Amino acid sequence: MKHLLKMLDLSPEEIIEILNLADQLKYEQKHGIPHKFLKGKTLGMIFEKASTRTRVSFEAGMYQLGGYALFLSSQELQMGRGEPIEDTARVLSRYLDGIMIRTYKQEDVEVLAQNSTIPVINGLTDASHPCQVLADLMTIREYKNKLEGLKLCFIGDGHNMANSLIVGCLKVGMNVSVATPKGYEPAQFALDFAKDYANFELLSDPLEAAADADVLVTDVWSSMGQEDEADKRKKDFTGFQINCETIKAANPDVMVLHCLPAHKGEEITHKVFEEHADAIFDESENRLHAQKAVMVKLMG
Ligand code: CP
Ligand code: NVA
Repeated sequence: MKHLLKMLDLSPEEIIEILNLADQLKYEQKHGIPHKFLKGKTLGMIFEKASTRTRVSFEAGMYQLGGYALFLSSQELQMGRGEPIEDTARVLSRYLDGIMIRTYKQEDVEVLAQNSTIPVINGLTDASHPCQVLADLMTIREYKNKLEGLKLCFIGDGHNMANSLIVGCLKVGMNVSVATPKGYEPAQFALDFAKDYANFELLSDPLEAAADADVLVTDVWSSMGQEDEADKRKKDFTGFQINCETIKAANPDVMVLHCLPAHKGEEITHKVFEEHADAIFDESENRLHAQKAVMVKLMG
């Protein structure tokens, strides 16, 4: 594994190795056992979109590993004035030991990686959010003690989170159901991957999708970059919500995850959010541990 660009690039064994290392790093951090595996190393973090969790968890994680993280707003880089990604990659490769990038197009991340001599980590694109899905799998395993055979149901927009969950969860042997409104289905690459799996269902009825689910997941109706469509999306996504009825359709011990930020009252009710807040904020915390594991694997 040279980069982390999307879940498709990881083998099931690599996913489990990352989760095992993440568990170990979490244990060590909680018990004050130092793990400065990236002493003297620098991570550059390019952000073309906003972030709370990704920025802070990568920065804190790098510090805990003995390294340094550099926040680079794409607006302030020459990239924002049109310097080619290819050249940016070649320059940053001379200074840094790794790059994390959050941007719009998956292709930009792929081009950055192709032209870098250092590891590149995708911190979210419109197509995928692999770091979040690794944290989600880590959290599911913590709560359920296994992954294989569990059913995860995603309700909402077939955007980055849905795409990466489909690929990541199927790879580790989970059953996956997805409910989206018509016209908001997951990306073709995720559906192409899933078509070889009998344990994948794409539906348009959220309650049918939620039946017997062990894990329910949702995401905002309008993602970053879709702000102009927010009014139309509010109408189109009506009913694509995790609420008391969805919980009733699922298994009695269902867990609920949300990558955050959440728009309570839209994709999830306040009540369900607060009843499942422990798991949701453990999921947020696990971004730190899962990403530290990724950085140690790639940059250590
Ligand atoms: N879940 C997530 O990636 O959060 P941020 O947008 O705050 O980084
Ligand atoms: N789908 C959301 C996820 C945020 C972490 C977005 O892209 O804005």
